[in-house]
Amino acid sequence: MKFTPFLASGAAAMLIVPGSSANDEPQAPISLDHGEASNFWDRLAPAADAIESAIEDSIDFLTSGFETVKETVGELQEEFQTQLDDAVQAVDDHHHHHPPKHDTRDHTIYELISKSNYTKIFAKIVDEHPDVVKLLNSTHASHNLTLFVPIDEAFEHIPDDHEKPSKEFVEALLQYHVGIGEYPAKRILSTDTIPTAYNEEWLGGEPQRLRVGLGLGGVNLNFYSRVVAVDIGAKNGVVHGIRSILVPPPMIGRILTLFPGEFSTLLLAYEKTEFVKFIHGVKMVGSTVFAPSNRAFSSLGPRVNAFLFNTETGLKYLKALLKYHIVANVTLYTDAVYDKTDGEAKEQSREHFDLKTLLGDAHIGVDTATFAGFTVIKVNGFANVVRRDAPGKNGVIHVLDKVLIPPRKHGEESLFEEIFEELTVEDLMERLDEFVEDGENPNELEL
Ligand SMILES: *[C@@H]1O[C@H](CO)[C@@H](O)[C@H](O)[C@H]1NC(C)=O
Ligand SMILES: *[C@@H]1O[C@H](CO)[C@@H](O)[C@H](O)[C@H]1NC(C)=O
Ligand SMILES: *[C@@H]1O[C@H](CO)[C@@H](O)[C@H](O)[C@H]1NC(C)=O
Ligand SMILES: *[C@@H]1O[C@H](CO)[C@@H](O)[C@H](O)[C@H]1NC(C)=O
Repeated sequence: MKFTPFLASGAAAMLIVPGSSANDEPQAPISLDHGEASNFWDRLAPAADAIESAIEDSIDFLTSGFETVKETVGELQEEFQTQLDDAVQAVDDHHHHHPPKHDTRDHTIYELISKSNYTKIFAKIVDEHPDVVKLLNSTHASHNLTLFVPIDEAFEHIPDDHEKPSKEFVEALLQYHVGIGEYPAKRILSTDTIPTAYNEEWLGGEPQRLRVGLGLGGVNLNFYSRVVAVDIGAKNGVVHGIRSILVPPPMIGRILTLFPGEFSTLLLAYEKTEFVKFIHGVKMVGSTVFAPSNRAFSSLGPRVNAFLFNTETGLKYLKALLKYHIVANVTLYTDAVYDKTDGEAKEQSREHFDLKTLLGDAHIGVDTATFAGFTVIKVNGFANVVRRDAPGKNGVIHVLDKVLIPPRKHGEESLFEEIFEELTVEDLMERLDEFVEDGENPNELEL
């Protein structure tokens, strides 16, 4: 089953913002970075259509159930078995005849990839980085490792650059392929994100994470890199083959601009409210960004959108709304949290978080539930996270199907009303009034 939510929602966005210039590529990232990693990522990693097909896969997957994935993984394991035999053969090629039952567990991850015929290129790059060799060869660490090793094919798509990437950049890239902890395929299937050996300064030095996705194509990492061979056990962990190189993700703003089909309305909102100016002045150590999709905006209805986007007053409310979708200093993944607020992110239970947003003292509630292997995340009880855990350099993105609005002051209304009553402009204004000043300097609201 195939459908294309992207085109559909893109068209909707243009309809609901009358008179605006909702073109395809609004130029308003939250935060630009033109660093090496970012440029590299742009050209190599996202291959936006690859991500979209990975996303379609997961949509297909949602409609086709869990069994398919298990089967796919089964097939992958067979495929791997062949590769495993090869690798063991190579490691022990002094045993010419009747090699006894070899166990890759006798060798370190480093030794396995240096001997495998499928991972020559990656191994060669690792060899130029003694610290990474040490990491992958160590058997004394307090935890085992999971290496996602790009098979040689993965390097075919590397842009032919005259500039050689810096040693620092390549080392970060290598580290980003190393998961901290042992994640065999079975564990990966029930994991949302995996911490890596790449510590990200923008996250306060915490490990940057890899997002695990399940689709018809099996398991993918960060949407675009498919896992092709699974579970080669080593003395110090486990090795999986992947089809695309993993590049440490760029800034969140940059990522959003890569998907105008999904975020053109949000990007337009950033542009019209000069949000970049505001957000650059906010100091953050990691962040959680809830990004409403084009559909989320369109479900606010034409009147509310016309008010928000096309009136001077409306833009102030729009800016307040945008602030309400960003949490500073807490990076909340589905299965992990980096809290840099001295415990302000109140975790009331493992499934509920109460988070302070950039909108004055307004909080949002995030609830996580897992059933049948699926994680469902709801925000403020009514907005669904439709795409979770997209890692960014400076935080994490969760895509929402609804725009978040602070709850009514006098909260007697029922959940029924919350869901079925159409929001009016008056209602929206009332719920945001206390956060919007009519003062002469709308750029310096509450903060
Ligand atoms: C690896 O490749 C080399 C050169 O092509 C070949 O001689 C060798 O047999 C291969 N090893 C395995 C285990 O396939
Ligand atoms: C890797 O570790 C093994 C012991 O597990 C050691 O024999 C070998 O020399 C090490 N290789 C390198 C390149 O450090
Ligand atoms: C790493 O894996 C090996 C092999 O399975 C196991 O013997 C060892 O205890 C593990 N080390 C740690 C720190 O978990
Ligand atoms: C985030 O944390 C930093 C460092 O502690 C602090 O300076 C900054 O004000 C915080 N940002 C917000 C929006 O609370």
